Amino acid sequence: MVLNPLPQVLKKGMSVIGSGLHLIRCFFIMVGLTMLELPLLLLTLGRETSIPDLPPASSMKEEGAIGGKHFKLDVIEAADLAPETLRGYVKRSEPVMIKNVPSQMFDVLANHAPAVPPGTPEDKLLIDQYTFPKLGEMSKWIMHNIGKRVLYLARFSGGYKGGYAHIDSFPSYNFYYVRRGRKKVYIVPRQYNCLLNFGKGYDSVFVRDDDTSGTKLEWLETIPGYWTFEVEEGDVLLFNNSACIHKFMNLTHNPEIFTMRLAHMDSSPLTLWNDCFNWTGAKYFTDIAFSGKTGVRDTASIEGKPY
Ligand SMILES: [Fe+2]
Repeated sequence: MVLNPLPQVLKKGMSVIGSGLHLIRCFFIMVGLTMLELPLLLLTLGRETSIPDLPPASSMKEEGAIGGKHFKLDVIEAADLAPETLRGYVKRSEPVMIKNVPSQMFDVLANHAPAVPPGTPEDKLLIDQYTFPKLGEMSKWIMHNIGKRVLYLARFSGGYKGGYAHIDSFPSYNFYYVRRGRKKVYIVPRQYNCLLNFGKGYDSVFVRDDDTSGTKLEWLETIPGYWTFEVEEGDVLLFNNSACIHKFMNLTHNPEIFTMRLAHMDSSPLTLWNDCFNWTGAKYFTDIAFSGKTGVRDTASIEGKPY
């Protein structure tokens, strides 16, 4: 029997056109990111070294801190917030935890928490992503208390252990909500970025001496100090993810967090430069923007290929 070859040819043609369109999108995303971040980079050159020093490490130490290097994280009750409170932390790129934000504000996140597709690997990071999400009361709360818009939202879940210490691509500030589980967190003041050795990732710059096991933390002992603490269900953490190194290790199986990226331009020059002319990064961001599926990610693969 002779098969009609036309459908095969059409299929092949469509696939070639699809690949070509994808490459064009990647190219425009790379050019767009470079055009946005290169001027910001020029504006922020020297910024990190001109930020006022932290208060003397001795005055910021947490009581009983092991090794004497832990800075005390400020924890604020949501009911005690004044409109200027969080803006001060944002201006200083200093992390702060907010407790007891009314839980009904987060109900809207159920619309951004699809069921995990069958056959999904159980030991990987699962990412569901939304650009310009509609978050109703939560957006209003964030605007009132922080004065910023939510540009992007991602849900992280899955049975992975943790991630590299890194600074995220794309200028933004992180409003981080824990819906399930518990995590150990490390955040480094941006004033110490110049003391560490970074690798170029596709969506971050990462600390070369770190790994994802949580046992290779000697690099933290080479800087004057850092914040370390736990977050748990219901907590909100506000921090500058595009200026401060951060590392999260899961303490419970399959936690679920929502990271809301707020419009913010005060990033580290390290990550701004990393995003310029970054073809692998552009391909990754294009996949995010156009796939609409749950992403599966190996957190140990941070440099070359995303998956
Ligand atoms: Fe991050």
